[in-house]
Amino acid sequence: MLQFDLLQTDPSSHARRGRLTLNHGVVQTPIFMPVGTYGTVKGVTPRSLEDMDAQIILGNTFHLWMRPGLDVMAQFGGLHQFEKWNKPILTDSGGFQVWSLGAMRKITEDGVHFSSPVNGDKLFMSPEVSIQIQTTLNSDIAMQLDECTPYLSVEPKTKGQITTEDEARASMEMSLRWAQRSRAEFARLENPNALFGIVQGGMFEGLRQESLEQLVAMDFPGYAVGGVSVGEPKDEMLRIMAHTPHRLPAHKPRYLMGVGTPEDLIEGVAQGVDMFDCVMPTRNARNGTFFTRYGDLKIRNARHKMDQRPLDETCTCYACAGSATHANTPDTGAGRSWAQGGRGGFSRAYLHHLDRCGEMLGPMLSSIHNLHYYLNLMTEVRAALDAGTFGAFRQQFKANRARGV
Ligand code: GUN
Ligand code: ZN
Repeated sequence: MLQFDLLQTDPSSHARRGRLTLNHGVVQTPIFMPVGTYGTVKGVTPRSLEDMDAQIILGNTFHLWMRPGLDVMAQFGGLHQFEKWNKPILTDSGGFQVWSLGAMRKITEDGVHFSSPVNGDKLFMSPEVSIQIQTTLNSDIAMQLDECTPYLSVEPKTKGQITTEDEARASMEMSLRWAQRSRAEFARLENPNALFGIVQGGMFEGLRQESLEQLVAMDFPGYAVGGVSVGEPKDEMLRIMAHTPHRLPAHKPRYLMGVGTPEDLIEGVAQGVDMFDCVMPTRNARNGTFFTRYGDLKIRNARHKMDQRPLDETCTCYACAGSATHANTPDTGAGRSWAQGGRGGFSRAYLHHLDRCGEMLGPMLSSIHNLHYYLNLMTEVRAALDAGTFGAFRQQFKANRARGV
């Protein structure tokens, strides 16, 4: 099941405030969804995710099919029980991941033939197979199998050449046929959850328009915009973000796949997007890059060696504040620091030290902070939309981020 209630719309942009009800719970939108590819948000326990008020996380069909495999998933009755996450889960269909295999795969109308990156076995992923796997995973939201049209064409091997409109059309039209097949299989299996269609069309607005119209005619309970953040220049991504999301049906949830920086999320919200996912907060955390209200911070920099301040004085995450707080109210940072009598969070000097020593706690704390930052950013966005102040919030966000840490 899926129910989407539109609660509020912003007069100054396409932004909307909504509530998404799924089989494993309610999701307030706009929302950021932490990525848990292999059935784990890397380095972060489900308890920590709950502490930071994560409402829905991702899993990946392709990876979980490879390992641990469907027999294990079926025995556990799905991914929720296996990974001990009782709130909603969205699974990506595997299209994007299979496509990322490059030379190891061959895409045909039937589906994708590829060699397992784990043991070399010859495997086949079709729209039907993807839906069968996602049904076994019992994800609250399943995604159609699609072909993610790349910015630079690699089929045939013309690397460095921008995908032509003809190539993008052929790919988009196949994704539409795969949407239909995904939908039929989902219905045949009587999957009790929800299936989203994915708009493709490369960098071509006319193709995007055709793709979305055809998908809307198939009447999915929600829609994603795919094929962005695939190597294109930023202004091209912004052009597609300005074109597609707000043209999708207003009363259904909209998901922008694989995007992006905090700035991209705010722009996406302004363009009418309700749901986001990206590996950036967790991946950057593992590389020692922190997102903060006042800009990004590289913990490897020697200037942090003696710095007793927390990463972000306004952040209430466990790393910054020393206690786990829910991100369900906007952060004020009030009364949390050591100086103010609280236990206080970890210093920049300590996080710098953990990084230099390659200690496991480093990426764990930085992942908590970065995810909390993304989740809290969306909490602040929702509060601004509720209060009718999203326009002012957007300006303040930009000014804060430009200030520097
Ligand atoms: N993740 C990021 N982009 C995409 C896309 O275009 N399709 C799918 N299935 N997943 C994605
Ligand atoms: Zn923090």
